[in-house]
Amino acid sequence: MIVPTTELFKHAYGKYAVGAYNINNLEQAMGLFRGNIDSKAPFIVQISKGSRTYTDKSMLEAILRAADKIFADAIFAVHLDHGNEETCMDCIASGFYSSVMIDASEKPFEDNVAATRRVVEAAHKKGIVVEAELGQLGGVEEDIQVAEGHAHLTDPEQAKEFIKRSGCDSLACAIGTSHGAYKFSGSQGIHFEILEAIQKLVPGFPLVMHGSSSVPKEEVVRINKAGGKLGDAKGVDENQFAKAAKLGVTKVNIDTDGRLVWTRVHREFFLSHPEKFDLRDPGKIFMAEYAKFIAHKNQKLGSAGQVDDVRVLLKK
Ligand code: G3H
Ligand code: 13P
Ligand code: ZN
Repeated sequence: MIVPTTELFKHAYGKYAVGAYNINNLEQAMGLFRGNIDSKAPFIVQISKGSRTYTDKSMLEAILRAADKIFADAIFAVHLDHGNEETCMDCIASGFYSSVMIDASEKPFEDNVAATRRVVEAAHKKGIVVEAELGQLGGVEEDIQVAEGHAHLTDPEQAKEFIKRSGCDSLACAIGTSHGAYKFSGSQGIHFEILEAIQKLVPGFPLVMHGSSSVPKEEVVRINKAGGKLGDAKGVDENQFAKAAKLGVTKVNIDTDGRLVWTRVHREFFLSHPEKFDLRDPGKIFMAEYAKFIAHKNQKLGSAGQVDDVRVLLKK
């Protein structure tokens, strides 16, 4: 069942974080739903601007509608990841999305407030909620590349003002993580003190952690052994999700890790079966492996085992 993102946040706040996973195709969708059913977790399906144009935006919607029927027990929200104003308005008009993210974080503060405010006004009229971003993460984000050293961490006082003036419903904060497989190039780590300060200034307000893939060493080693060439890839320690959740992080975005599972499965499969060419053979392995990965992540996020409780909350 597709549910409002705010309902998931209400239940999770201060206790656990909801996993927000990006999808681009049907194999990812099948693995994602299976993993969440197996671990009894509520979840958020993320669709990026890039994934909407990979085939056609209506293709992913159709896949999700079908998944909703196949996995009738699933409780999930559908979210636009890193939208610009135009994409946000398109998703709001479609009526399919539970929430949208307007990412105007590269703009000056006043312009970010104004763009977010415009999206909030359109979204709220339709009962859709809005995630905004303040500060800049390092790494690759859609067509924008931010060098890690130039990433601007979120200023808590500014965050308070931004939330009040923009009317956004959740905020993505730059706390030292970055997108992609090469995080924490220096000795920096997650800036929990920023989360703590924002939580004190805006108690109860849902925060979002982007760039949260953990880029497991074993995964990188297996990919490279099977012909890959990933350099010094590094990610977020998944044991830190629980600490972030206590400080108000209700949504944790994970995309890169799923791509690594896909790459490992397909590289290993074709290396050991050079004679094969049926895409369904590695596809089946990927769906099972991705489901296992999702169930594991949900354990770390604390969302595993919460779905029945959320169902009760939704009926009230
Ligand atoms: O933060 C970006 C997400 O990982 C989505 O990536 O824009 O390549 O679909 P994408
Ligand atoms: P990763 O690249 O760490 O998976 O981050 C994904 C993300 O933040 C999507 O918005
Ligand atoms: Zn992101």
